[in-house]
Amino acid sequence: MARERVVLAYSGGLDTSVMVPWIGEKYNLDVIAFTVDLGQGEDIEKIRHKAQKTGAVDAVALDARNLFIDCFVWPALMAGAMYEGKYPLATALGRPLIAKLMVDVAREKGAKAVAHGCTGKGNDQVRFDVTFQTLAPDLRIIAPVREWKWTRDEEIKFAQKHDIPVEAKIESPYSIDQNIFGRSCEAGVLEDPWDEPPEGAYAWTTDPLKAPNEPVYVEIDFEHGRPVGLDGKKIDGVALLEQLNDLGGKHGVGRIDHVENRLVGIKSREVYEAPAAIILHEAHRELETLCLSKPSQRFKTLVSQEYADIIYNGLWFSAFHQDLFQFVLSNQRYVTGLVRVKLYKGKATVVGRKSEYSLYSKKLATYESGDQFDHDAAKGFIRLHGLGQQTQAHVQLLKDGRGFDLPGLLRHEK
Ligand code: ARG
Repeated sequence: MARERVVLAYSGGLDTSVMVPWIGEKYNLDVIAFTVDLGQGEDIEKIRHKAQKTGAVDAVALDARNLFIDCFVWPALMAGAMYEGKYPLATALGRPLIAKLMVDVAREKGAKAVAHGCTGKGNDQVRFDVTFQTLAPDLRIIAPVREWKWTRDEEIKFAQKHDIPVEAKIESPYSIDQNIFGRSCEAGVLEDPWDEPPEGAYAWTTDPLKAPNEPVYVEIDFEHGRPVGLDGKKIDGVALLEQLNDLGGKHGVGRIDHVENRLVGIKSREVYEAPAAIILHEAHRELETLCLSKPSQRFKTLVSQEYADIIYNGLWFSAFHQDLFQFVLSNQRYVTGLVRVKLYKGKATVVGRKSEYSLYSKKLATYESGDQFDHDAAKGFIRLHGLGQQTQAHVQLLKDGRGFDLPGLLRHEK
């Protein structure tokens, strides 16, 4: 009798390769390997062949870079989603897409289970499992790394017994995940938050000290909050992100050292590299300063934080997210224009912005001739603006000739 099947998120590394025979033995299931290109810079066809050699009964490889950018990366950018103000969420954005595509494959191939290689203390297991649970509650979820409590030696022994090639090359001392929106690097010496990350933790970016002594400028075109052009030319998402990663990386832009609050209750230290993400977020936020009204801009910061939490916490497939996305779409309808960014020694600085929908009015702002601001109106405005505070001071704070009790710390220290 044919065995039932499981769709495994297969990266081609040792862990997920060992999983192929392990799942077969432990769960009596045939493995369909699933590999997806999110711009991590690996040859997915090669990985697909490796899966077949490792004993997978079927192996699927998919280029989902455009889907990733259009349906995950751009919405996150438009929303201004930056976890704890620092992390542009590359890894977190990839997970719900991978999980969704795995569900699609499971349906197409009639598989009864899904499996991934996440550990039991990270965020990624949550993002995978919650997505599976939401989109396909009938599928059984298998997470071998959460179950096998192997040392590395035991894992290698198992691999050798099953003729799985254990690469001789020295393994990275870090745990790394990457896609076109950024690279995440943790573990090893990074686990001491006092120690500066060694140069070896970085792969996409030049040390800012060694970056070129001349800055470079890029001009990014946005339409309704979405980047569509680079230096005067229309460009698709893949090419835009690749070029900005490359150029930003050369100038040392996009290094992030983050002690973050994980969903599972621990703090962890991660080093990110995300040149394109940093450049685009900076540029986008600056364009918003021209195109959004003051209350819209202020409220947007709350939405950005919510949006980042939704992504980080693995709740992409929620109605709340759909609702917030509608807000973002509407909020971005006039965020169209051009931003000029200077890349220099590790920093991306916006030095110019313009838009046909700009709310900035030179005629109102200028201190030179042509000023149309009504200076006389300011007087009446200020009287009313300060009226409440003035009334309170006279009735309460300054009553009976008292002075204003100056807020300050020293006088309260005994
Ligand atoms: N801490 C990041 C997150 O939860 C990245 C996780 C994956 N990192 C890694 N180095 N494997 O989104």
